[in-house]
Amino acid sequence: MPAAVKKQRASGLLITFEGIDFSGKSLQAELFYQRVVESGNRALALRDPGATSISEKIRAILLDNRHGEMSPWTELLLYEAARAQMIEQSIKPALQRGSVVVCDRLYDSTTAYQGYGRQLDLTLVTAANHIGACGLAPDMTLLIDLPVPIAAERKKQLKRKKDRMENAGDDFQQRVRGGYLKLAADEPGRIHVIQGDQPVELIRDHIWHVFTKRWPEFRD
Ligand code: TMP
Repeated sequence: MPAAVKKQRASGLLITFEGIDFSGKSLQAELFYQRVVESGNRALALRDPGATSISEKIRAILLDNRHGEMSPWTELLLYEAARAQMIEQSIKPALQRGSVVVCDRLYDSTTAYQGYGRQLDLTLVTAANHIGACGLAPDMTLLIDLPVPIAAERKKQLKRKKDRMENAGDDFQQRVRGGYLKLAADEPGRIHVIQGDQPVELIRDHIWHVFTKRWPEFRD
């Protein structure tokens, strides 16, 4: 049997990438996705919020700089609504097909950004996350950790216009980073902290090593 067929899984895996803005996690999610595809496995790459028509529309509302008046509670619920749609419409069917679903952010972002960043009540944020997750939890999460001053420098170098969340400021990003590290300390079996201040290829290889250590059937 060809390797590509042999390696297909009966039930999929949900792998999420997390990190503060400009941590480099989206690039790493993309590189990881490519590597899964190259290994001959079915894969799907998504971003949260996004991926479906409804969720992308909600994303546009969330990131629009003209929406400075948005209540943090509205923000929380919109992230959950976008996620619920993506999970039901895209992620669950892909997992049933046996795909490796690579998700750029999921509910850990909500805990970090709305819980720690916006300082909403963590019990309520967790309850909202339960609704938005529609019964799913990531099999593994890669947290790309980067000190805020380095992320701020990357942000400065990047000439494009920044969105509403990216404009939230360094103190906000500090709280978000602290929240992520707390989550990782609480769930070391699922959340792996990857040092983001390293060359892209090193980070990519480190992530693949962590992943294939847990699921050796993906090794080349
Ligand atoms: P992105 O930059 O990874 O595409 O995500 C868009 C922004 O939304 C980013 O600033 C992080 C933020 N965000 C939250 O505040 N809460 C969430 O639950 C998610 C998924 C993202």
